[in-house]
Amino acid sequence: MNISILSLFPELYQPFFATSLLGRACQSGKITPYIKNLFDGVEPKKRIDAPVVGPGRGMMIKPDVLASAIDGQQECLGSAYKIFFSPQGRKLTQPVFRELADIFQKHEHVMLVTSRYEGIDARVEQAYADDTISLGDFVLLGGDIPAMALLEGVLRLIPGIVGSQESVDRESFEGSFVDYPQYTLPTEWRGMKIPEVLLSGNHGAIDSWRTDQAARKTVEGHFEWLRSWALSKNQKEIAKKHIPSHYAVLMHDQVLLKDGSSGTTSVTTMDIHDISRSGRTYDIKNYFLVTPLVDQQNIVKTLLDFWVKGEGFEYNRHRYDAVSRVRLMGAFDDVCREIARQEGSEPYVIATSAKEQGELEKITFFDQKKVWAHKRPVLFVFGTGHGLAPEVLAKCHAVLPPVEGFTDFNHLSVRTAAGIIFDRWLGINPRYAFRQDEK
Ligand SMILES: C[S@@+](CC[C@H](N)C(=O)[O-])C[C@H]1O[C@@H](n2cnc3c(N)ncnc32)[C@H](O)[C@@H]1O
Repeated sequence: MNISILSLFPELYQPFFATSLLGRACQSGKITPYIKNLFDGVEPKKRIDAPVVGPGRGMMIKPDVLASAIDGQQECLGSAYKIFFSPQGRKLTQPVFRELADIFQKHEHVMLVTSRYEGIDARVEQAYADDTISLGDFVLLGGDIPAMALLEGVLRLIPGIVGSQESVDRESFEGSFVDYPQYTLPTEWRGMKIPEVLLSGNHGAIDSWRTDQAARKTVEGHFEWLRSWALSKNQKEIAKKHIPSHYAVLMHDQVLLKDGSSGTTSVTTMDIHDISRSGRTYDIKNYFLVTPLVDQQNIVKTLLDFWVKGEGFEYNRHRYDAVSRVRLMGAFDDVCREIARQEGSEPYVIATSAKEQGELEKITFFDQKKVWAHKRPVLFVFGTGHGLAPEVLAKCHAVLPPVEGFTDFNHLSVRTAAGIIFDRWLGINPRYAFRQDEK
């Protein structure tokens, strides 16, 4: 496999290709690197770069320097699959490495075009790039480290370069769960012992422990990754054990009224149905409804009795399944007490609001790790009327940002907001398909 690298700093690649497994792959002829110094294409006393056109500063490598280097390499080694580097390119992830490993194996010649300064003239990329790769959402000085990272990630996937392909296939980010914790000898180090199960010789028990630990580490540290997979039923079950219990409450008391005072609102049967169905989908353990008004409580009781005990139970079991998680309460404090009774600890309370709330700690829909680190059940608080009154907000630990789109219309129904919030916090949004052996 011929790998051309165009760079302003070819000396960076000498140790890289002489060391470790890549050194061995070069020696055995599995890969042949050709490091092309871009300065070689510049006539004496001429500059390699020119200023960016238009206002602003910065220099770029001249298009002709890159074009003649690329053409020259292709004349020598044949047409290449050409990879450019840019922070705006396709982000490197393990699935992208897998894709690139396939591409490397299908092409006799792969070319990595690195640059420095302000990047590459857009026309050169348009004319030559088969792919543009980013190492991540940050800006480095140049494309050499991204090129090396790409090579390390891709070449280890090509059979024959790393000793055991099985160990490669089982690593983090090859599937939905990251790798489990691993240990070597001695069995005790600085007072810390290797988990006993690993020394038991019981392969079944070791496998279960490893899967469980992998799921724990993934839920705690890589929830975004986990939920980007189409998870099997079994994987969901294993992962769920490490997600704390979540609850929701819809306040019909202590909410703001039109005149800005705090008061009560009427219950809405549609909210009861729809939020309980959303809640059931995202495994919200209970959806509490808070109203202190006896006539309102009677409406809720009639509806719940119909679906849980009455005709509704026979008529639609799915609806029963959802509605049976609804609990009617007279006050917000009763909700927290009930959760504490069920879970053994008070909930971590997260307010939701259509408005910015200045006083409370702001969290985002990416803060599961921070919230779950409290090791407490989580309670989402939804308001009715004109939103939660200050006396409820004072009992919340944090607030989520308003749900919004690219408009200034800010009037979602609470049942829609609840669905969106559950999904943003706990939803699966598959980008990757599960592997056969992960089912
Ligand atoms: C300073 S950067 C240019 C940044 C460019 N003006 C921008 O804002 O998108 C110079 C070169 O470094 C490389 N580079 C920097 N950060 C990178 C990243 N995150 N991924 C891949 N290449 C990167 C690219 O080759 C890029 O053209």
